[in-house]
Amino acid sequence: MKIGIFDSGIGGKAMAHELELALGDNLEIIIVDDHKNVPYGDKKQSEIISLTDAAIQPLLKANCDIILIACNTATVLAIDSLRLKYPNQRFIGIKPMIRTGAKLTKSNIIAVCATPATLGSDRYKKLVKKFDYNLKIIEPDCSDWAKMIENNQINYEEIEKVINDLCDQGADVVVLGCTHYYWIKDFIVKICKGRARVIEPSKAVIYRVERLLKSC
Ligand code: DGL
Repeated sequence: MKIGIFDSGIGGKAMAHELELALGDNLEIIIVDDHKNVPYGDKKQSEIISLTDAAIQPLLKANCDIILIACNTATVLAIDSLRLKYPNQRFIGIKPMIRTGAKLTKSNIIAVCATPATLGSDRYKKLVKKFDYNLKIIEPDCSDWAKMIENNQINYEEIEKVINDLCDQGADVVVLGCTHYYWIKDFIVKICKGRARVIEPSKAVIYRVERLLKSC
C-alpha cells in the first residue's frame, strides 16, 4: 500500500519513522513537508488550507492509497476542505487525543500542548466541548515550540518550566497535540515521571493504517 505523509515540517518524519518500524514491509511511504512555510501554527485558516493543498499535490499525483495529514494544525483546519475538494482520495488526520486523555486521567485535569491555530480552531473547540463538563483542560503557551524543534534550537529550560507548571496544577495526562513534539517526547516524559502520562498519536495512527491494510 502506498501512503503519503504530509506535515508542515519534521512532524511527518516522526510519524513515518513509527510507521516504517511497525509496518514497513507492507508500506511504500512518500513524505512531503512545507519547509518554506513552516510553522503553520501561527497562520490563518485560509492560508493553512491553501498551503496544505499545494503541499500535498505530489502525493495526489503519486496516487497514494492514503494521505496521512500528520499535522494536528492542518487536520483541524484544512482536512474538511481537502476531503470536499478531493472526494476520491482517502485522508487520515491527526487531532489532539483528548478522548484518550479523558479515559486515562484520575485527577480529571489534563494538559493539551498544541499550536495556537489548533487550540483556536472550531474543530478543536468542538472536541473540548464533548469532554470539558467534568474535565479541566489546561492549554499552555507552546506557540514557539514547533519552530524551536524545526530549527533544532530547543530551549529545554522553557519547556521544563511549562511542563512542571502543568504537573503542579494537577494535570496527570499531558497530550502532545503537535507532531513536532514527538521529537521532545522523551524529555517531557522524564520531567513528568511519577506525575503525569504523556500521550502522542503514533500508536493510534499505526493501528488505523494496519486496519486499512487488512481491509485492502
Ligand atoms: N506539526 C504540526 C502539528 O501537528 C504543526 C507545526 C506548525 O507548523 O506549527 O500541529
